[in-house]
Amino acid sequence: MILQATARANSNIALIKYWGKRDEALNLPQNGSISMTLDGLHTTTTVRWDDALPEHKAFLDRKAMEGSELAKIGRFLNRIKQMAGVKGHAMVETHNSFPTAAGLASSASGYAALALAATKAAGLELSERELSLLARQGSGSASRSIFGGFVEWHRGEAPEGSDSYAESLLAPEAWDLRMLVVVLEDRPKAVSSREAMARTVATSPMYPSWLSTVEADLGGMREAIANQDLEAVGTLAEANCLKMHATMHTTLPSVIYWQPSTLALMHRVQHLRREGLPCFFTIDAGPNVKVLCRPEDAAGLSHELHAVPGVRELIACSPGLGASLL
Ligand code: PMV
Repeated sequence: MILQATARANSNIALIKYWGKRDEALNLPQNGSISMTLDGLHTTTTVRWDDALPEHKAFLDRKAMEGSELAKIGRFLNRIKQMAGVKGHAMVETHNSFPTAAGLASSASGYAALALAATKAAGLELSERELSLLARQGSGSASRSIFGGFVEWHRGEAPEGSDSYAESLLAPEAWDLRMLVVVLEDRPKAVSSREAMARTVATSPMYPSWLSTVEADLGGMREAIANQDLEAVGTLAEANCLKMHATMHTTLPSVIYWQPSTLALMHRVQHLRREGLPCFFTIDAGPNVKVLCRPEDAAGLSHELHAVPGVRELIACSPGLGASLL
């Protein structure tokens, strides 16, 4: 028997970051996080369960996946195979709407689309919460990409992770703003986010400060989003991102994802803000910079940021929809 489904999920960028795991195998976070789902940066994935396939196969943008990446997808698919009681193995074909080589996080959209397509193809009808719990086990940030707009992923308390799922805070159509994704690098990063998180939890003297302030950041961000207050959202997001990077700068050995062009952009954004333009940056575990602004300022700001040396590409994103079947 052959069972097939196709799903699409958008990527997301955290405004209050997930940084540090309390369980490596289950991807359980040390702290909650809040993100914006990005329209236009999506992954489309088709999964076909096939009795005749001797092992799982996966293709990313037509290229066969192998090694540890394929092994990770295989473990994820085996979990679904067990849940659904399907026989055989899965054929996965996945495409990113953005260049994978651009260094943009594709694991969030990737595992959200895979969770939905693989469970649907296996005959399972999961709720959004169940999908979020499942996607989390592929990649922590994928738990948030099941939902559209503004999303909170709860830390949870249960050791097996049953209460560590994401939920919608505000629908994408409720608030129109822009996140400019400024692409600087196209090389794979030297230290994975998994490794950087583990090193931070184990060695950064700043990590306890991160944990002791993150609840207040989450509370402030919930309120700022409910009020649709760009100034408050941006101020908190920028400070939270700098705090996360301070924890990784102080690990042993230290992890510094910033390139000279990353720093140039940070200065540019702060300079423009001093001149009266409401714009705010956030940076994940990589050199690329994302800038929040009003829709009416997006074109002018894109032009300004494009002029910073080292900028390769700029993608303007609105709040996007959650994962869906095609
Ligand atoms: O879920 P991962 O392994 O892609 O880690 C995400 C880590 C950050 O992007 C830095 C923060 C976040 O909340 O997305």
